[in-house]
Amino acid sequence: MIILKTPEEIAVMAQASRVVAETLEILRKTVRPGITTDELDRIAEEEIRSRGAKPAFKGYRNYPKTLCASVNEQVVHGIPSKRVLKDGDIIGLDLGAIVDGFYGDSAVTVAVGQITERIARLVQVTEEAMYLGVEQAVVGRRLSDISHAIQQHVESAGYSVVTEFVGHGIGRQLHEEPQVPNYGKSGQGPRLQAGMVLAIEPMVNMGGAAVKILGDRWTAVTVDGSLSAHFEHTITIEPSGPARVLSQL
Ligand code: MF3
Ligand code: CO
Repeated sequence: MIILKTPEEIAVMAQASRVVAETLEILRKTVRPGITTDELDRIAEEEIRSRGAKPAFKGYRNYPKTLCASVNEQVVHGIPSKRVLKDGDIIGLDLGAIVDGFYGDSAVTVAVGQITERIARLVQVTEEAMYLGVEQAVVGRRLSDISHAIQQHVESAGYSVVTEFVGHGIGRQLHEEPQVPNYGKSGQGPRLQAGMVLAIEPMVNMGGAAVKILGDRWTAVTVDGSLSAHFEHTITIEPSGPARVLSQL
């Protein structure tokens, strides 16, 4: 069952998403060669709590930290550690916050120092794919129109969509129905309705689509060691017109 949200509930989700967006903006500016992912996690938790919100991921299925910090061939769910970022890395920063029982969830991939054109293109195409998905998130379209738009853009660029992880409905729980795959043919699945709130989150590998989970039981990496990028926004389906992106400043 897809739980539709009232305008009042969406106002609270907008607050949670804003906390995430503001914190990601701070982290994005803080990322530099020499900093550890633990330091980014510490800042993330402090910024979320200082805004009167709660970290959404800490304790979720025993996840130990506030932030997911996924470097280079890490796809998602990298656990912050003493790892030191170096010039030319890319890092996915994925963050969730809770305000009055409602979740916000967003992710960006950012460059550490200077990255090559080849790597910058992966990051750009992934962000574009997310926004092409968001463009499909309007009343009257079907869920898989989002999925299809994402896959189409990623594969046209010569990259692979990760299929093991998907976007999701979001509300009083981090993950609600429906699942939002980043692949599939168009015109399938439920019709999009006003009041739906979705987290749209393509994960894109430069090489093959295959991923595996490391021994820490969280970190997903590409099997072929190729680089991977991830972007995510929490959005609402509006009664008319384009989706509203809650997790953007
Ligand atoms: N953005 C991710 C998701 O929607 C983050 C989950 S990390 C976890 O699934 F630690 F909370 F599981
Ligand atoms: Co998510």
